[in-house]
Amino acid sequence: MALYSEKVMDHFRNPRNVGIIENADGVGEAGNPVCGDIMKIYLKIDNDVITDVKFETFGCGSAIASSSMATELIKGQPRAEALKLTNKAVTEALDGLPAHKLHCSVLAEEAIKLAVKDYYDKNHIEYDHSLLPEESGCAHCHCD
Ligand code: FES
Repeated sequence: MALYSEKVMDHFRNPRNVGIIENADGVGEAGNPVCGDIMKIYLKIDNDVITDVKFETFGCGSAIASSSMATELIKGQPRAEALKLTNKAVTEALDGLPAHKLHCSVLAEEAIKLAVKDYYDKNHIEYDHSLLPEESGCAHCHCD
């Protein structure tokens, strides 16, 4: 069996939503101190809906595929839904990742949540803090 699913390879080879949004409404950045990979997410939000999302990822193929899939999952969704995104949902949408690459999908979850947090903070909107990562980086993965 191949190590990576066809979906992972597709999103790695043809990542969706790569780039920067000038004057983004929310920006989030997450990094993994162990591997040194960094992911940055830009959101455009109109009427509480994520109308555009772009990412820059300096990292491994799994991190790029996870970023691409995560942006696809939240694009067009209400902003509150982005706070509920989990790395499990990203991984399932990619038809799985090898166990030692699951932490790469955690970066996508964290960067997106931090971008929504940035939007909420800028607009003085209350939100459920328990939905946010405790800190950027390997907060809840066990990569080494
Ligand atoms: Fe660093 Fe994948 S190895 S995010």
